[in-house]
Amino acid sequence: MLHLDSGFDLRPARAEDAAKIAWWMAQPHIRQWWHQDWSVERWAQELSEQTAGEHSIPCVAAVDAEDFGYVELYRVRHDRLAEYYPSDENDWGVHVAIGDVTRVGRGLGRRLLRALSDALLGSDPDCRRVVAEPDIDNTQSVRAFAAAGFVGQGELQLPEKTALLMVRTRTVEA
Ligand SMILES: CC(C)(COP(=O)(O)OP(=O)(O)OC[C@H]1O[C@@H](n2cnc3c(N)ncnc32)[C@H](O)[C@@H]1OP(=O)(O)O)[C@@H](O)C(=O)NCCC(=O)NCCS
Repeated sequence: MLHLDSGFDLRPARAEDAAKIAWWMAQPHIRQWWHQDWSVERWAQELSEQTAGEHSIPCVAAVDAEDFGYVELYRVRHDRLAEYYPSDENDWGVHVAIGDVTRVGRGLGRRLLRALSDALLGSDPDCRRVVAEPDIDNTQSVRAFAAAGFVGQGELQLPEKTALLMVRTRTVEA
C-alpha cells in the first residue's frame, strides 16, 4: 500500500479485484473511453499478466478507505506510446478511471492525478516526465490532467484514436 498526498492510497490490483474492476469498466462513462468492458475472468487474467510482466502496474485507488478507481502505471519504454513521441527511458505513463460515476466531475480526478504524478516523480529520481494520452475528444479527462499540471504537447494519431499527449514535468507548475 502506497500513501499518496491528499489522502489517497494506492495498492497493486490482484486477481481478487477483477470483479470490482470489471464492474467499473462496464460503466458507460468508462466503457466509452477505455473499451475494456471485459468479463471478470478476462480481467483476472489481465491483472495476473500485467503483474507478472514489465509493462505496467495495475492499481486500485482508495480514499477514506473506500476503493474508487483503477489506475495503470506503465513504463513508456515498454509501451507502444514510445513509438509516437521522443520518450525518455524513464518516462512513466498513467491510465485512470474513476469507477463510481457519482464521484466523477468533482475534482477527485485532478487531485488523484497530481498526487500520483508527484509520487512517481518523487520516488523515481531518474524520471523526468509523467505522460498520458487521453482521447482528444475526452474533454473531462484532458481538463482533469491539465488541472493536475499536465501540459498538452500535441496530437498523436494512435491506431484507435486521436490522442492528446499530456506531459507533467518536474518544472511545470499549474
Ligand atoms: C477522467 C477522469 C479520471 C477525471 O476525473 P474527474 O474527477 O472527473 O475530473 P475533475 O473533476 O478533476 O475535472 C473534470 C474537468 O472536466 C470538466 N467536465 C466535467 N464534466 C464534463 C463533461 N461532461 N464534459 C466536458 N467536461 C467536463 C470539469 O468542469 C473539469 O474541468 P474544469 O475544472 O477545467 O472546469 C474521470 O472523469 C473518469 O474516470 N472518466 C472516465 C474514464 C476516463 O475517461 N479515463 C481517462 C482516460 S485517459
